[in-house]
Amino acid sequence: MYDFNEVIDRSDTQSIKYEGMDLVYETSDMLPFWIADMDIATPKPVLDAIQKRLDHRIIGYTKWQQDKFYEPIKHWYRTRFDTRVMNSDLFYSPTVLYTITESIRALTQPGEGIIVNIPSYNTFLTLIEANRRVVVPSPFVFDGQEYKMDFDAFESLCQRADMKVFLFCNPHNPTGKVFTTEELDEIVSICEAHDVFIIADEIHMDFARQKKHQSLINWMKPDSNIIVTSCLGKTFNISGLPHAYYVTKNRFLKMELSRQILAAGIGNPNALALNAIEAGYMECADWVDAINDFILSNMKFVKSYAEEFLDDVLDVYIPDATFLMWIDFSKSGYSEEEVQEALQKVGKVALGIGSTYMHDDSTHFRMNVACDRARLEEGMARIKKAFDHLKNNHS
Ligand SMILES: Cc1ncc(COP(=O)(O)O)c(C=O)c1O
Repeated sequence: MYDFNEVIDRSDTQSIKYEGMDLVYETSDMLPFWIADMDIATPKPVLDAIQKRLDHRIIGYTKWQQDKFYEPIKHWYRTRFDTRVMNSDLFYSPTVLYTITESIRALTQPGEGIIVNIPSYNTFLTLIEANRRVVVPSPFVFDGQEYKMDFDAFESLCQRADMKVFLFCNPHNPTGKVFTTEELDEIVSICEAHDVFIIADEIHMDFARQKKHQSLINWMKPDSNIIVTSCLGKTFNISGLPHAYYVTKNRFLKMELSRQILAAGIGNPNALALNAIEAGYMECADWVDAINDFILSNMKFVKSYAEEFLDDVLDVYIPDATFLMWIDFSKSGYSEEEVQEALQKVGKVALGIGSTYMHDDSTHFRMNVACDRARLEEGMARIKKAFDHLKNNHS
């Protein structure tokens, strides 16, 4: 029904993925599988809704405190996640990262620690440091099947007096982990016991496949120390149309975030995004199911290709969620520097650089598989070429 294998030329659209490789890599002449947007068209109802708004021809200041904003979001959470959201707890924000930054600023002082699972979405690490807070790593343990939290170590961190915030990502970027009910119970109870505020980024929620995504909204009690933030940027590939929302029952944070958004002069929403939210959340559930099937089949292809041709150097597992694969090259014995150099200069393929997600050395790269199958085949052939080169030239 949907052709996710359609190839759309993105040149001259100022996309970071293609035209911004020089921001991260030494070379730009590469096939990109790095930044987390999709080489896949936004669903037609969303594009039509944006077009409809443009057709009006006047794009003035816009109000979000109305049903056009509340109802689609409440509908999506109710029908997709069996989660109830109340208007009084739901707010517009310019971006997910803006919500996180302002929450961190409201809840902590410079020099204080923010707990994050490691590996971590790389921008969390830079964002914490840019706000003069300190990254406090809570490393995952990988048991060969899945990533797990070390709850004893996590609780010890939460007990520290200077620890006020856990910046939580579920589904998790880059590992694709979806947290279970038991794990969420444990996180909430530890954080409650030690007065640690949970900032939950659930931006990848619509790409949970093997396990059901459960929003921390379900764990909120009146005034509890939880904020959940998300948007449609990943889901419908509209990250270039900034918008987001957050849900909290915490009175202090409600007040502080509203105040800071006003203070920054960015209280009015993106008029095009309001139409996109309505169309995406009211009309595109079947598209989301279909794209998840497509992504899963792409992931299975990557795994089977690696098993056939790269088994001596890569360990590939299929994550519960996201369109990102966190691929382990530790058994190759090569350093990240060697692997990245070969990927970039020999394979000419841009993959997420593992150490930027680690706060430390890494033996992984991140691969974005939301693209047509032919490109993915080409990408895997290039990865093979890079490792073949390393095998033939390594002393
Ligand atoms: C976990 C996570 N949070 C936030 C973002 C960015 O969200 P926004 O563009 O709304 O700030 C990304 C983008 O890759 C992400 O993976």
